[in-house]
Amino acid sequence: MRTLVLGGAGMLGKAVVADGRRRGRAVLGLGRVHADVTERAQLLRWVDEYRPELIINCAAFTLVDECETRREEALAVNGEALENITAAAGHAGADLVHVSTDYVFNGSATAPIPEDAPTDPQSVYGLSKLRGEELALRYDRALVVRASWLFGPGGPNFAATIRRLIGQGTNPLRVVDDQIGRPTFTPFLARALWDLAEAKARGVVHYGNRERTSWHGFASEIAHILAPEVKVLPVSTREFPRPAPRPNYSVLDVSRFEQITSRRVEPWLSGLVAYLESRA
Ligand SMILES: NC(=O)c1ccc[n+]([C@@H]2O[C@H](COP(=O)([O-])OP(=O)(O)OC[C@H]3O[C@@H](n4cnc5c(N)ncnc54)[C@H](OP(=O)(O)O)[C@@H]3O)[C@@H](O)[C@H]2O)c1
Repeated sequence: MRTLVLGGAGMLGKAVVADGRRRGRAVLGLGRVHADVTERAQLLRWVDEYRPELIINCAAFTLVDECETRREEALAVNGEALENITAAAGHAGADLVHVSTDYVFNGSATAPIPEDAPTDPQSVYGLSKLRGEELALRYDRALVVRASWLFGPGGPNFAATIRRLIGQGTNPLRVVDDQIGRPTFTPFLARALWDLAEAKARGVVHYGNRERTSWHGFASEIAHILAPEVKVLPVSTREFPRPAPRPNYSVLDVSRFEQITSRRVEPWLSGLVAYLESRA
């Protein structure tokens, strides 16, 4: 399965390229400098050159707060670019796996969110990602995988921030305890994307690691592993206002994923231990 990974220099993109190569696949990962997803001609040149059977799109404008003020750019990269990507996939006759987010929901759910729950994004980022999903799903060989709370090597992420603050001697840490979700280790998500692609899954699939926790619970585990003397104090979202609202409840229902792949999602704690040990 010759595979082109767009956004191949990002945190998830690198993990997807690495997992594919471990599987013995021919994988070409392209960063923004080589393949800008807003440039259709560039994408068409790459698929002409490489003839992929699968395209995995990990490219996105992921600075959630900046999306509020750089709306056009967010909509172009996360939304309208999917017209270019599906055109390129169609040109090559390739399957498409597109990565999306829990931010397409409004965060008011009280039970794990299934794939067909009504969307209602509360931020420009969420709106732009929803537009990308809609355009991706117009392509009949597309799979959209919604994930949440990513952490892993090679990118800024919450676990890296907490590790840095602990390293700088911050004590106590103050972390919000009223946002609930599934932390998700990028190498586990990469494996999931490949498994779903190999199973020829279509439509929308939710993926995240188990068990649900709050950012406070996640930070407490990091402190417990790295520096048990550090206190992690719970605070509310209201005490930490951000330009883009965060969903309060982001727990995605992963049963469709578990049914397709006949395996349970991995525990985030084992990903966290691997991540902290690697110091990447
Ligand atoms: N991080 C999370 O917590 C999270 C949660 C749920 C879903 N997701 C989704 O997961 C996917 C991967 O995210 P990530 O965390 O790996 O983010 P990331 O590290 O920011 O990776 C995204 C990559 O896309 C690239 N990019 C930006 N604009 C581009 C363009 N016009 N053309 C081509 N590439 C472009 C970025 O390059 P530059 O660095 O040069 O801008 C970056 O390398 C995204 O679809 C994101 O929406 C992320």
